[in-house]
Amino acid sequence: MVKPRRRGRFIVLEGIDGSGTTTQVAYLVSWLLERGELVHGTRQPSTGPVGSLLRQVLSGRVVGRGAEGKPAPVDPTAVALLFAADRIDHVASEITPHLEAGRHVICDRYVLSSLAYQSLDTDLAFVRAINGKAPAPDLTIFLRVKPEVAMDRIAATRSDRDAFENLPFQRRVAKAYDSLLEKYRDGRVVELDGEEVPGTVRGRVRAAVEDLL
Ligand code: TYD
Repeated sequence: MVKPRRRGRFIVLEGIDGSGTTTQVAYLVSWLLERGELVHGTRQPSTGPVGSLLRQVLSGRVVGRGAEGKPAPVDPTAVALLFAADRIDHVASEITPHLEAGRHVICDRYVLSSLAYQSLDTDLAFVRAINGKAPAPDLTIFLRVKPEVAMDRIAATRSDRDAFENLPFQRRVAKAYDSLLEKYRDGRVVELDGEEVPGTVRGRVRAAVEDLL
């Protein structure tokens, strides 16, 4: 009889914009592949239909309507619901099938991002409730980077900065993450100093993942 493959581990990287989650997800995926592990790297917002819509909302290509049909920001509650809908669709169509096939899934952002970002404009309890069906990760790695450092990195590397990525906003997000991390217990959570050089952060991320595997 063929032995059923062991379910993969679900690992999430989190942090403010410019904290290096995307870089570290890429490193982690290639390191696990080198070790001969089965692995799938992904991100939220996802590349699925709701995720694509969300990216257009974030970049301002899709706008809402206000008084007299005038263009206005999309209602923050609607944005929170879109993030939650994208997540549930991403879990059902991509994350769970990979985990069940025995692949580790490494995801750039997950529920904690919604709790941090969407709670700035919408009630935290509501954001929690609409994400209540998203399964907890096995491990969340939070990359701690000061908002000033993150902003400098963004300014140095990107020309397509989201309207969101300004210093006062980054400070609010950082504060929201801090208060969430005090009590967030969905699976194991590891906080790392994301201000170290990428190679050092990479080593610490590996160590945290090695502990889990
Ligand atoms: P991301 O793709 O990580 O940003 P970028 O492509 O600029 O590196 O995420 C896009 C933005 O979406 C980011 O500012 C964080 C935000 N976000 C939320 O507000 N809520 C969420 O649930 C998620 C997953 C992301």
